[in-house]
Amino acid sequence: MARSGPAGLFLVLALGVTSVALADDELRYPDGATTFKASCAVCHRPTGAGTPGLAPPVIVYPPRFVGTPDGRRQLAMTVLYGMYGDIVVDERHYNFKMPEFAQLDDATLATVLNHVIFDLGHAPADVQPLDAAAIAAERNTVVDGAAVRAHRNVAIEGLPQ
Ligand code: HEC
Repeated sequence: MARSGPAGLFLVLALGVTSVALADDELRYPDGATTFKASCAVCHRPTGAGTPGLAPPVIVYPPRFVGTPDGRRQLAMTVLYGMYGDIVVDERHYNFKMPEFAQLDDATLATVLNHVIFDLGHAPADVQPLDAAAIAAERNTVVDGAAVRAHRNVAIEGLPQ
């Protein structure tokens, strides 16, 4: 029981019980983790588990979306243009506004999504990560957060069962 005691207890409380955080040297996308902590964790929590009533977990759908063409587009659109309108994740409703992050460059957005998908969400390692070009492709068609919400249904329909 070398890991018990106050420090171990603090670690358990800090990480929460639903998700296990990777140590910094185990991260595949450390730069993405830095952006996530600065710009996303206030709503989605450092583990990506979300905040009930405010922001959904990002470890449920994004690791699945990355495996399909419509899902990959959905991920890029969500960070570029934000999203609003009711969504359901793990049987909980969320209906608050995801801000847009179009001011961040393509490589930064691809890396923060890869951190969500692979480091926090544990998508299979053989799935192709997103790259700057995947983000850049969505900058050509500017849409609003309601359209991003509507496209989310298309992305979900395209997921393997
Ligand atoms: C102000 C709070 C807030 C911040 C900051 C924020 N988000 Fe969100 N995010 C939301 C909300 C709210 C939704 C759901 C919107 C809805 O209900 O339509 C969401 C949805 C998402 C989704 C879609 C999940 C799904 O199941 O479709 C992704 C991916 C995402 N956010 C990633 C990020 C990333 C990456 C960042 C940082 C660059 C970020 N978010 C910053 C509030 C936030």
